[in-house]
Amino acid sequence: MGQNAADAEQSAHLRKRIRSWQRAALPGSGTGTAHGKVILLGEHAVVYGAPALALPVPSLGCRARVACRFPGEGRVVGFRMVQLPPGVPSGPFLPPPHITEGPIPEGLHMVVSALLRRAELQVLPGVDILLESGVPPARGLGSSAACARAVTHALDDLLGLQLSSEAVFECVQSSETAVHGQASGIDALATGSRRPVLLAGGHVSTPAVGADGWIVVVDSGSGASTKEAVAMLRDSFAAHPGSRERFLDHSTALTLAGLRSMAGGRLAELGRRLTDCHQLLAGLGLTTERTDSLVDAALTGGALGAKMSGGGLGGCVIALAATEPEADALAALLLREHGVRCWTTRLVREAEHAGT
Ligand code: PMV
Repeated sequence: MGQNAADAEQSAHLRKRIRSWQRAALPGSGTGTAHGKVILLGEHAVVYGAPALALPVPSLGCRARVACRFPGEGRVVGFRMVQLPPGVPSGPFLPPPHITEGPIPEGLHMVVSALLRRAELQVLPGVDILLESGVPPARGLGSSAACARAVTHALDDLLGLQLSSEAVFECVQSSETAVHGQASGIDALATGSRRPVLLAGGHVSTPAVGADGWIVVVDSGSGASTKEAVAMLRDSFAAHPGSRERFLDHSTALTLAGLRSMAGGRLAELGRRLTDCHQLLAGLGLTTERTDSLVDAALTGGALGAKMSGGGLGGCVIALAATEPEADALAALLLREHGVRCWTTRLVREAEHAGT
């Protein structure tokens, strides 16, 4: 046997040994979770560095399971996305009701490639992804960020990377940027936080909450493209000099006033700031007839305040209530009279924290 053939045989043998070692060393699969979110104040303005306040919606869960497949060479060899009725993903992975099979969304593909590179494996496995999400997509509830976060955690679990919270954020944010074009990072943060998230000028903190409250989340029934909404606003600002600054000043003032009201436990005042924020966003063409009428219905039904939430152009409306019975009554009324899906999430009384 010539030297080249001997070398080739030896490296093939080595590759085989490394592969079987990696098969044994890597656990078969990894899992990760995340959840949905709503934006209380400051959406869109936050893209330009102004403050925004988001609240997690833990009842809208998302879970990913990833598994290694050999050979795979770092490719995503399988992708299944199961959209569950909200609140379902808790027990063992379920036989899926609605499966989307096919090409992996670009943002998730970036997460997989980045984390496989980071693992520095000598022989790259293929990755099979199963996503179960109870976060309705295209409703301003952070579905894409929740999916990216769940997949990031699942790969971290599989590859034993022990990613810091900053590294997880970077992964989710790179996926969000691919999905939305320009993303502030608030979805990437809030889909992994158990507390309210304040993002202002790139700085993250947990704002004080002086009283318990309830947020009813109402689905308007129509999808919303955050990318489209962000681009629409960017074009409009470019066409109307000074309009961006006016919007940012107004939004900042509302968000800061809302934060003071929330810290002081003055929920009625906070509610008025939410409604003001809706009017501000409506003036920019981000609301629809349906989201406007849901806001009116919530206010008539006794909400302390109501607004569109997230990118707009459809999506969800949120409404503030002071107590759980009031929130339940509001949700029941909106369901009965408007035939929409509703969920509730809580504002929990808590002192301010430096980070999330
Ligand atoms: O993804 P959505 O629809 O919840 O919107 C996120 C909020 C925006 O401010 C419109 C965009 C961003 O990246 O902050």
